[in-house]
Amino acid sequence: MDRIRIVGGRRLEGTIPISGAKNATLPLMIASLLTEDTLILDNVPRLADVVLLQRILGNHGVDVMVSGKRAGETADHGQTLHISAARIVDTTAPYELVSRMRASFWVLAPLVARMGQARVSMPGGCAIGTRPVDLLIMAIERLGARIEIDGGYVVATAPKGLRGGEICFPKITVGGTHTALMAAALADGSTVIENAAREPEIVDVADCLNKMGARISGAGTSRIIIEGVARLGGARHSVLPDRIETGTYAMAVAMAGGDILLQHARPELLQAALDVLGGTGVSVTATNAGIRVARNGGDLRPVEVATAPFPAFPTDLQAQLMALMTRAHGTSHIVETVFENRFMHVQELARLGARIQLDGERATIEGVERLKGAQVMATDLRASVSLVIAALAAEGETIVNRVYHLDRGFERLEEKLGRCGAAIERLTG
Ligand code: EPZ
Repeated sequence: MDRIRIVGGRRLEGTIPISGAKNATLPLMIASLLTEDTLILDNVPRLADVVLLQRILGNHGVDVMVSGKRAGETADHGQTLHISAARIVDTTAPYELVSRMRASFWVLAPLVARMGQARVSMPGGCAIGTRPVDLLIMAIERLGARIEIDGGYVVATAPKGLRGGEICFPKITVGGTHTALMAAALADGSTVIENAAREPEIVDVADCLNKMGARISGAGTSRIIIEGVARLGGARHSVLPDRIETGTYAMAVAMAGGDILLQHARPELLQAALDVLGGTGVSVTATNAGIRVARNGGDLRPVEVATAPFPAFPTDLQAQLMALMTRAHGTSHIVETVFENRFMHVQELARLGARIQLDGERATIEGVERLKGAQVMATDLRASVSLVIAALAAEGETIVNRVYHLDRGFERLEEKLGRCGAAIERLTG
């Protein structure tokens, strides 16, 4: 099993290219199930989750072709996928596949919308806490599907197709909103989604669906209106830049010190996080090429932050911010309001010398003078990368075990940081 070795204490200087967003790529690939025509996605990141979803879609009969390298292209360019769900041969998503990646549960909506039936395994628990799918099921039911739970599977049927309806989410859910959008796009009549998630990835998926012929308005606000259409066609769409990767590297520079251009990054995708970073004393500047983040000496100031759905500070950057605050001058508080128990990184950060106390959903982080390298591991990808950030400022050597978590969501992490001066290498085997 691969590990990452980091020797702390190096400044970061240079450019880090930001890849396409994982959390837009996955629902965009799933949206291909809605049409017989080919969906072409550009700027797709090379991630383990993308490969796994290709396999999952393949099981439904979807062909995914990856374009070869073009003249002048380097590994910094995203991939282009040609995805064709011309013939869906199987409407079951089995436990072995869904349990490996929760987002694959989202195939439920396009399968029932286009085929009138779907049988998808319930995803089960996950490393970041209890993650139910009740609201996703509610959304499909509101559009007329009949739902049964059978042997751990959600069986959705709508032999005469889905029909438009009103879906009001009692809690903001990204997956619920993707599900509602995809189901409503092919439903008969109009659908209104109230209390919709406003994440940029929702807007990206809605944009792509509209290119495919859907009639969606209001994406990016809490009220989305969809006029259903009888069929969707092919389209070409470029995945938006990854705001979580952007925020992660911004915090890495804040931790290690230095001056980095986060190329292709778009500040409006993570303004709340950039504001928090600015508050710690780090310099953050938007440029035409991306976002420049610099820290040249000076103490990091502590923060008071609560995670919440977009446009607030994202839960997917909580662990990284906590790692950064372990070296702040003073005491910080971070409240996690999106997922219960998304604090798996705390015990591992403590192995490096961090002082963090947990009280329910609230973490108190007392900044320390120094961290010291150690063997660590984590059970989800954002927690893993928080250990990388801490290691950049820790004295001596840190070994991050279970690197496959990082490979799920960060493209060539060791190469991107290594090119900017970090002492980081992958130990294979
Ligand atoms: C998406 O997960 C992201 N995943 C997560 O990214 C991200 O942390 C999360 O949104 C929040 O921003 C992808 O986009 C692939 P939710 P999702 O439905 O859609 C509760 C990462 O590291 N809820 O918005 O599964 C749920 O328990 C990750 O890349 C219900 O109660 O999250 C949570 O408390 C992991 N019932 C809250 O809503 C439901 O039916 C928000 O979850 C669904 C959700």
